[in-house]
Amino acid sequence: MANVYAKSPGTRPSGNVETKRQRARPRRNFRHIGVRPYAPNLGAEVRGIDLADGLTDEQFEEVHQAFLDNQVLFFKEQSPIAPETQIAIGERFGDLHFHPGNPGKDGYPAIIEIHSHADSKMANGEYWHSDVSCDELPPLGTMLQLHVLPESGGDTMFADSYAAWEALSEPLRAMLDGLHAKHDGEHIYRGRYANFGVDDEGKVYPSAVHPITRTHPETGRKALYVNRGFTTGIEELEPDESEALLEFLFEHAEKIDFQIRYRWELNDMAFWDNRCVMHRALWDYWPAARKGHRVTIKGDKPV
Ligand code: SIN
Repeated sequence: MANVYAKSPGTRPSGNVETKRQRARPRRNFRHIGVRPYAPNLGAEVRGIDLADGLTDEQFEEVHQAFLDNQVLFFKEQSPIAPETQIAIGERFGDLHFHPGNPGKDGYPAIIEIHSHADSKMANGEYWHSDVSCDELPPLGTMLQLHVLPESGGDTMFADSYAAWEALSEPLRAMLDGLHAKHDGEHIYRGRYANFGVDDEGKVYPSAVHPITRTHPETGRKALYVNRGFTTGIEELEPDESEALLEFLFEHAEKIDFQIRYRWELNDMAFWDNRCVMHRALWDYWPAARKGHRVTIKGDKPV
């Protein structure tokens, strides 16, 4: 009789994923924020500051360090953040990124309103992706505060792209190291914002070629940088080779070993690092509503 407790080939950690699991994240003695791991593999909860009051220089330094250590932060026990304040917090981390398709909230082009409700035809980010990876300079990070939540559901999944890279075997990493992939916006964005009054006829959405593995400019760690949402082909391979390898890499990067699933509480703010995590929003709460504000920070050219 089959041992039902044995891990199936589909979920078994592969390569050297165990090594990654054993790597402890730094435990730092912060003075201004309390930081607690959200899960053993990824993410941390942050307490002790209310972002509605903005960020002091000392708080910024600690939040920045915690962000690099944990890849995604969840700020708990928050008040609603005014749009001007959320923009100012984003600007502490770099120039803001303006979305190529979404016109932004009235009067605040740097703020994307995330809003799904009974009349919605789709919700933002229902597929695994790294935000706007089709841009030449894709976003460094994204800050999302949710002000309206369904009674249940509407969780966001995050997956660790450092761990995905590190879990691949050495020969496969050696092969992937010199390869580049195309990331396209056209199939994602065309017609998507018509309900915001956007007529995109004649508009050209971005596409960019990025290395399949990128080195994080601040931590120096390597991450797998392909995602099911935007990545459409591997430049150096034949189409059938590219399709097969990409499907393998998508499935690998989406393995549950690398994931967490975040259950939101009202006014939580999540801040994720698009250079080393992917995410996916679950739209399992229709016809209920879910609403919030997203600010995105411009990043570097992936190398
Ligand atoms: C997104 O920015 O991709 C949406 C994330 C979410 O709504 O949880």
